[in-house]
Order: sequence, then C-alpha cells, then structure tokens
Amino acid sequence: MTEEQKALRLTVLAGDGIGPEVTAAALRVLEAALRSVGIDLITTQHLIGGVALDQAGDPLPEASLKSARAADAVFLGAVGGPAWDQASVRPEAGLLRLRSGLGAFANLRPVRVWPGLESYSPLRAEVLQGADLLFIRELTGGIYFGRPKGVAGKAPHRHAVDTSEYSEAEVRRTAEVAFREARQRRSRVTSVDKANVLATSQLWREVVTEVGQKFPDVALEHCLVDSFALRLLQQPGAFDVVVTENLFGDILTDEAGALSGTLGVLPSASGGGEGPWLYEPVHGSAPDIAGQGIANPVGAIVTVALLLRLTLKLDQLAEVVEQAVGAVIAEGRLTPDLGGRESTESLTEAVIERLPVGATA
Ligand code: NAD
Ligand code: IPM
Ligand code: MN
Repeated sequence: MTEEQKALRLTVLAGDGIGPEVTAAALRVLEAALRSVGIDLITTQHLIGGVALDQAGDPLPEASLKSARAADAVFLGAVGGPAWDQASVRPEAGLLRLRSGLGAFANLRPVRVWPGLESYSPLRAEVLQGADLLFIRELTGGIYFGRPKGVAGKAPHRHAVDTSEYSEAEVRRTAEVAFREARQRRSRVTSVDKANVLATSQLWREVVTEVGQKFPDVALEHCLVDSFALRLLQQPGAFDVVVTENLFGDILTDEAGALSGTLGVLPSASGGGEGPWLYEPVHGSAPDIAGQGIANPVGAIVTVALLLRLTLKLDQLAEVVEQAVGAVIAEGRLTPDLGGRESTESLTEAVIERLPVGATA
C-alpha cells in the first residue's frame, strides 16, 4: 500500500467449511477499521482448497496464486473436509503450495488467555497465570515438503515414505525471526526439537544456538518436543517465544489452543520471504459446525489485527480491534464452542459496534 493510494489490496481465499463464514466476519471488521483511518479495502476473491478442486480441478489454481503474489496481503479462511478425504489430490495441498509460493517460511502464532475465558480452559486458572506465548513455526520445510514422499506397492505389501529435511539457511532465517520477535517481548526463546533422535533436530539445535550468539540479550533454552508438550500444560507461563519446525509447530499450536479455551480464537500470520504476508486463523474448516452460522469469528478477527500490525504498521488500530474483541468477550458474549449463544454474525456485529465512531460511519 502506498500513501497516495490509501487502499489495501487484499486477495481473499475463503476456502471450505467455516472458512467463508469467518472470512466474511474478518472482512467486515477490517473494512470498518480501515475506514476509520481513511484507507479503502479492495478485495479480490479466489478459489482454494476443496471448492477449487471441485470448480477448477486444482486446489490452488494459477489465478489464485498469481493474485496472492500481486496483493498487499492475503487472507485465508480454511481448507479441507470429509468430502475430499479420498481425493487423489487433497485440498490441503493447495494451502501448502500457497505458503511455499509466497515464501511464507515463518508462521507467527500468538497464544493468549483472554480475560473472562480462563474457566473455559481445561487447565486451572492458577496454572494459566502469565501464559502469553508466541510460537514461530517453520512453515515451508521439514517433513511437509521433503522428497521422496508417497505410498508405493500393492496391499498387503505397500510401503510409505516421508522425508524430513532442513538446510542451515532454513533454520537460520526462522531462528532470526524468533530472536527479533523476542526482543519486542520478554527476551526469551525456547527452541523445541527432537535432537536426541533426529538429525534434522541436531542441525536445528546447532544453528539456533549460533544465531542466539548474535542476540546475547535474549535468553535461549532448548527443549525436547515430548518434554515441551508436557511443560506447555504444566507451566505455560514459563515460555515467551517458542521456535520449532513445521510438524512440531502444527501439533503444539493446536495443543496451545487448550490454554485459550478453544481453537476458534487463535490467529496466525505467515511471511518472511519476498511475497506478501498470508493471514490465516489457526483452526480448520470445522466440518462438524459448518453452515450453521455459529463458528467463532474471534480467531479470524484477531488475525485482522495481525494484518494491521504487520502489513500496515498500524499498531494502534490493531490494539483497537483487539480491545473491542476483549470487551465483547469480557461481557460474556460467546459462541457455542465456549458455551455461549452468539452467532458468528452477532458476535462480529458486537465487535464492530465497539470500534471508534469513525470505524462504523
Ligand atoms: P478443525 O480446526 O477444523 O476443528 C477442530 C475442532 O475445533 C472441531 O470440533 C471444530 O468444530 C472446532 N473449531 C475449529 N474452529 C472453530 C471455530 N472457529 N469456532 C468454533 N469451533 C471451532 O480441525 P479438524 O476437524 O481436525 O480438521 C477439519 C479439516 O480442516 C481437515 O480437512 C483439516 O485438514 C483442515 N484444516 C485446515 C486448516 C487451514 O485451512 N488452515 C487448519 C487445520 C485443519
Ligand atoms: C494448520 C493446518 C495445516 C497444516 C493443514 C491444513 C495443511 O493444520 O495450518 O495448522 O498442517 O499446516
Ligand atoms: Mn494445524
């Protein structure tokens, strides 16, 4: 976005299941927030995921990637669902190609406990005390992308292989993001690996240690992934920035959803390379509740706050959006995943009402 333009060009990939429902909510909030500071929102909708497979025979049609690459930012709802579980190409492959095609190697997944939601976590309030984490998940490497990969042979003699692979450069650039983010926070980095077994993890640990030497003001600890999975539930307040490889980051951030009470409130932003940032709530297409208008829009709405902060550098406006969400939650206005009765739309409306006057004009 340039000053003269005063417009944000956003490629929107709503996808499957609740993807379109939470995306619509996020866009309403984004448009209202941007209007309050005189910025136009110009959206271009494109296909991704199962709906793209059905309509274009490809989970990421060329036009979707082209539009995404040319945009100021990209917003993704969710992809996948049982309808495509047996498909030879899965909807999820489109998302992986998108992340890779945008060079989005660093996935920022902040996890917080919203005041008022403490009792919705399976953890006791005193255990949750002080929990405020930022996961940096490596997003374009590791076992998700390594080759060879696939199933070969005929039953009952089939054979499957996945390859986990990391280069020093991939680890280094991800670790650098983690240390830089830590400087803006509480200056602690926990690097999670499986260095007692995996070669990739041994390299990961060495390179993260090297990068850490350039950030002497940031405390670094290494933690094995099995032990970290336990500590995350025993003392979540002990962590600040957590950096880890693609697969571990996927698993641990869903686990971290338990701290917040529901997966439906976790935001994420992916970037670091040449392309624009990709904004995507952590949750999936939630086929069990899709089409009912009850999906929790908070994850998608706070993902908008990340966009305001990272792409537009509008930190204050990002805070305004987060405060509006916080106020609505504190009033006990919640969707059914948190035992409430609000719909996606009524909760979104409540958030927009709490934005500054200019934002709703
Ligand atoms: P999921 O995240 O879709 O759902 C897990 C549980 O959390 C479900 O009970 C669901 O109802 C609930 N949930 C998730 N988001 C919610 C929200 N916003 N409001 C209320 N409840 C919410 O995970 P899943 O069921 O394992 O996966 C379903 C599909 O989504 C799969 O095809 C998977 O590959 C895909 N997926 C996509 C993404 C993505 O596009 N970024 C992320 C995760 C999973
Ligand atoms: C996520 C999702 C994706 C992942 C899937 C849908 C490919 O689970 O964003 O956490 O594994 O990265
Ligand atoms: Mn996941």
